[in-house]
Amino acid sequence: MDNMDVLRQQCLQCRKCRLGATRTNVVFGVGPVPSPIVFVGEGPGQQEDLQGEPFVGAAGRLLDEMLSIIDLGRHNCYIANIVKCRPPQNRDPMQDEQDACIVYLNEQLALLRPKIIVCLGRIAAMRLIKEDFRITREHGQWFSKDGIEYTALYHPSALLRDISKRPDTFADLLSLRKKAQSLGLPIV
Ligand code: URA
Repeated sequence: MDNMDVLRQQCLQCRKCRLGATRTNVVFGVGPVPSPIVFVGEGPGQQEDLQGEPFVGAAGRLLDEMLSIIDLGRHNCYIANIVKCRPPQNRDPMQDEQDACIVYLNEQLALLRPKIIVCLGRIAAMRLIKEDFRITREHGQWFSKDGIEYTALYHPSALLRDISKRPDTFADLLSLRKKAQSLGLPIV
């Protein structure tokens, strides 16, 4: 078993917060290790909880389309979430739930050694970029921290609800491609 598998096994046993009591499956994350580009969502929804994989429901299908715009596929980036278990009724994960779970993401990131982290939505951006992140104002901007380039896109669920946000996301995806190219990452 490699280090990511060991971490996955620990995570699958986790009961550190109340979400452990209501989940069907832990949604640990998928993708190659290491991975130069990592996408981080907020937490599993119903389909993810049932299948144990991130972004496999309606929002996930849109994420796949977003990735294909810049010739990225699920197989060549890592996808994870801030919390690994589904918050009931898809509510936002609470602060103490995020605090309990973030250790897993931090350990994943240590093993993944990404050059770019893309936050999907406000919750991930507030946790990984800065506490007062404003998604409407700051999506698509770049933030450098500890040798990693961070950006945030509107969450795919937000893009399903409000298609007027999609042109901005298209521009943000092109900016992501440009940044990846400038870092010499394998993306066309
Ligand atoms: N929304 C998220 O933030 N993550 C998922 O895995 C699915 C939907």
